[in-house]
Amino acid sequence: MELQITFPLLMSVGAAVIGSLQFGYNTGVINAPQKVSWTPLIVFFFLISLPGGEQTMGSSARLRNSMLIANVLAFISAALMGFSKMASSWEMLIIGRFIVGLYSGLCTGFVPMYVGEISPTALRGALGTLHQLGIVVGILIAQVFGLEMIMGNDDYWPLLLGFLFIPAVIQTVVLPFCPESPRFLLINRNEENKAKTVMKKLRGTTDVSNDMQEMKEESRQMMREKKVTILELFRSPLYRQPIIIAIILQLSQQLSGINAVFYFSTRIFENAGVAQPIYATIGAGVVNTAFTVVSVFVVERAGRRSLHLLGLMGMAGSAVLMTIALALLEQFKWMSYLSIVAIFAFVAFFELGPGPIPWFIVAELFSQGPRPSAMAVAGCSNWIANFIVGMSFQYVEKLCGPYVFIIFTILLLIFFIFTYFKVPETRGRTFDDISAGFRQTASAGAIKHSPEELNSLGADSQL
Ligand code: GLC
Repeated sequence: MELQITFPLLMSVGAAVIGSLQFGYNTGVINAPQKVSWTPLIVFFFLISLPGGEQTMGSSARLRNSMLIANVLAFISAALMGFSKMASSWEMLIIGRFIVGLYSGLCTGFVPMYVGEISPTALRGALGTLHQLGIVVGILIAQVFGLEMIMGNDDYWPLLLGFLFIPAVIQTVVLPFCPESPRFLLINRNEENKAKTVMKKLRGTTDVSNDMQEMKEESRQMMREKKVTILELFRSPLYRQPIIIAIILQLSQQLSGINAVFYFSTRIFENAGVAQPIYATIGAGVVNTAFTVVSVFVVERAGRRSLHLLGLMGMAGSAVLMTIALALLEQFKWMSYLSIVAIFAFVAFFELGPGPIPWFIVAELFSQGPRPSAMAVAGCSNWIANFIVGMSFQYVEKLCGPYVFIIFTILLLIFFIFTYFKVPETRGRTFDDISAGFRQTASAGAIKHSPEELNSLGADSQL
């Protein structure tokens, strides 16, 4: 099958990942103005609001429209934060930050689902990685805009925080020209003709029988499944394995320590004796972006599993290097250079696998029925872990001094072992084929399960 990257496909993916950019921007904008005293409070509000966003998302399958509507949140928060200084109101700032957190939570669910559902199987990983690319570009823009000579100063910080208005306008204008997910149209709405028209546009060909066939198969399978609530995901032996994998992959992304770097890199570099820490932080943003681009191009060749494994191991190695650099700083001044190399390597390995893959692989591990609930659970796990690292890193760092990255090294090795034994390769497989794989494992395992569990497998079992 030839690969077609058509204009409608690119436009739809492009419009969607503006949401990813927004999320990245609002993550990165925290780092530069570290010295402003309200920052920790805002980090807190940003993070605490995210699981709420994920919850709302769990009930939605109408992805294009959901993304469109979510922009209302972006506009409100841009206005609140942009005018907070003029109104001398810190409340506006906090509420604005809270709402932008909610909006980001929704984006991290909607975008990977929408992109996964409109992409041809052979490009699902590469296009899925564009979500992460949007995030990292957003972080980089925020780092540059946050420089004191640009907008990270007393006069312009309201513009820095209100900037999200502009991408929100662009997305609101472009999204109405993008199609609703054909999987939603066919499987949830049973509108076969519409789904077919959309498919033809996205694929740039009139023969879309393979795609239609595959979606219908998924649809048939879904009708046999009971409605899948979040609780069901954990109770049914059918979904237990993929949901555990989804959660642990999210944890592997966050507990790798990546946001210890992105929230606090300027301080880490300062401690490591780097002369211009803010530029080293921007350097980390550039490396971050460059390696996400690398991942876009290799993920369909190398596969998700191997890239994730390589990334985790590389990060563990870099964390050890970082520890050595910090521990020996007193004796050797040049260790500060080693610490820069170590952080850059840490970030680079992150973007090869642990950055992009957990986001889009969840959409791959589940079929249309359980996908939104699974995405919500995965997103929540991601944000809770993000929150824990964001909140505790400064204190743990005080306790452990230069040895703080050892904690991440140990966690990274545990995630490596889990991925090695439990995570299946999803590259080049249809959604239906992937869930059939889990059905088979569940059926085989069902011999050991209770009669009720056997029942719940019921007609789905392919034995
Ligand atoms: C991933 C993470 C996010 C992190 C970013 C760094 O998207 O989910 O928390 O800040 O990568 O590139």
